[in-house]
Amino acid sequence: MLTAKEDQDNGCIINTAVQVANNPTRLAISCQSENLTKEMIERTGVFNVSVLTEDVPFDTIKHFGMQTGREVNKFENFSAVKRSHNGLYYLTENANAMFSCKVVDKKDLGSHMMFIGEVTESKVLSRNASCTYAHYHKAIKPKF
Ligand SMILES: Cc1cc2nc3c(=O)[nH]c(=O)nc-3n(C[C@H](O)[C@H](O)[C@H](O)COP(=O)(O)O)c2cc1C
Repeated sequence: MLTAKEDQDNGCIINTAVQVANNPTRLAISCQSENLTKEMIERTGVFNVSVLTEDVPFDTIKHFGMQTGREVNKFENFSAVKRSHNGLYYLTENANAMFSCKVVDKKDLGSHMMFIGEVTESKVLSRNASCTYAHYHKAIKPKF
């Protein structure tokens, strides 16, 4: 999950974060061009990544991944968060790690903007297994 902060905090679910370099460590994330989170990262040049764990409830995915911060304040009633040194939120529950990044490059891919971020802070939060996209489809996403 991705968080950003401007006048208000916001965040969205992503399945496109990957480590792409070390010394210094760099992550790539890919944001849908119409997402508010993408606009906020573009303007502020910083973002946090929270690595969700397999026990993440579908409600959390729905809350951050199926509505936009243009219409709701997603953090208004969401208390399982702390602020990192850069002032942005990261998740303290259902997450095993967090990374704070500053944007060092970006590439417009049309439907998505890819940001390359240099890691400025990181924490291990638990030993629980990370939630992969495959696990999300197999065990979290409801089957109607
Ligand atoms: C399982 C899942 C994976 C997603 N992956 C991405 C992604 O990689 N990049 C992205 O920009 N949005 C992704 N989304 C969609 C955003 O989370 C969604 O559009 C969100 O409502 C955007 O909120 P915002 O407008 O407040 O930024 C994903 C959603 C789900 C449920």
